[in-house]
Amino acid sequence: MAWDNHSEIEKIIGDLGRLSFQGQRILVTGGAGFLGSWMCEALVAQGAEVICLDNFASGLRSNISHLFDREGFHFIEHDISEPISFEDHLDMVIHMASRASPFEFEHYPIEILKANTIGLMISLNIAAKHKARILYTSTSETYGNPHVVPTPESYYGNVNSVGPRGCYDEAKRCGEAYVVAYRKQYGLDTRIARIFNTYGPRIRSDGIYARAIPRFIDQALNDKPITIFGDGTQTRSFTYVTDQIRGLLRLAALDKAEGGIVNIGNDKETTIMDMAKMVLDITESKSGITYHPLPEDDPLRRRPDISRARDILDWEPKVTLEEGLRHTVEWFRSGGGSVS
Ligand SMILES: NC(=O)c1ccc[n+]([C@@H]2O[C@H](COP(=O)([O-])OP(=O)(O)OC[C@H]3O[C@@H](n4cnc5c(N)ncnc54)[C@H](O)[C@@H]3O)[C@@H](O)[C@H]2O)c1
Repeated sequence: MAWDNHSEIEKIIGDLGRLSFQGQRILVTGGAGFLGSWMCEALVAQGAEVICLDNFASGLRSNISHLFDREGFHFIEHDISEPISFEDHLDMVIHMASRASPFEFEHYPIEILKANTIGLMISLNIAAKHKARILYTSTSETYGNPHVVPTPESYYGNVNSVGPRGCYDEAKRCGEAYVVAYRKQYGLDTRIARIFNTYGPRIRSDGIYARAIPRFIDQALNDKPITIFGDGTQTRSFTYVTDQIRGLLRLAALDKAEGGIVNIGNDKETTIMDMAKMVLDITESKSGITYHPLPEDDPLRRRPDISRARDILDWEPKVTLEEGLRHTVEWFRSGGGSVS
């Protein structure tokens, strides 16, 4: 099975039905990242004018280089934590700018906090000035190490604010509070997505950017040992990128989702060990597995309750973990995982 960019975009926009972003001017912060680049590409394919803003903190020019010639795509290199404003009208702001890999929490805690507070506030002010809709990409990490699984949006969370993940978890919790405050005080049209672990082509596999799936695939393809933290019985609910972007676009487009806070993730729970075995199987790798201590505050279980997404967005995941991993492996094999 060869990996094909266009068919992935078709999967995303084919699902939108009558929902359309045609003719809208949309600012996407963090648009050169893994999810941001898919978001920009899907919006351009739908006929939107997209202003992609990114400072390449963790994003890559190669994620968006194929979009530079596309009609309606514009790029601004900028740190969203620094002031910026836009004169021409905007219909929507999608704030995705934030480093998101656990290894980055250790090296860049201040930048992460700033992107989701000061940077988000700058995005909210831009949206307020233009009376534009805003979508904020929050995270399942707002739930911390949850006592309620599957976790519904009504769960308050179990988060250690001063632990190694505090900079990310609390930044996102504060970000959500900002969004709610701007809605209350300025009447902004807001939407918050709580994204659960998402993977797929364009996810980084190098160094501190490598989350579990890209790290395992990279290790498997190079016959290096798979590094599992803990005993591998901890779970995650892995969502393939096309499913994630479909959900985000529905949340952004639907009028009835105004003010919504919605979990977007696959509700099929998988242990890290089973995911690793699947990667070894698909890649036909000779890699063994090595075990390392579980990092402090690493969540033991992750599984969203997606009743609200089913109900409000009429959305549910379609791509199985095996199918998504096969696509991602194909992308790695086609040279996609290497960073230049
Ligand atoms: N992928 C996931 O599993 C997941 C899960 C939960 C939440 N999210 C959220 O989704 C968003 C996108 O995540 P991703 O997985 O694509 O990560 P990513 O690291 O690939 O993308 C983040 C992008 O934001 C940019 N960025 C960071 N700080 C910036 C700043 N100050 N100014 C401008 N640009 C900046 C980076 O350069 C990068 O292009 C993030 O907000 C993340 O917290 C992702």
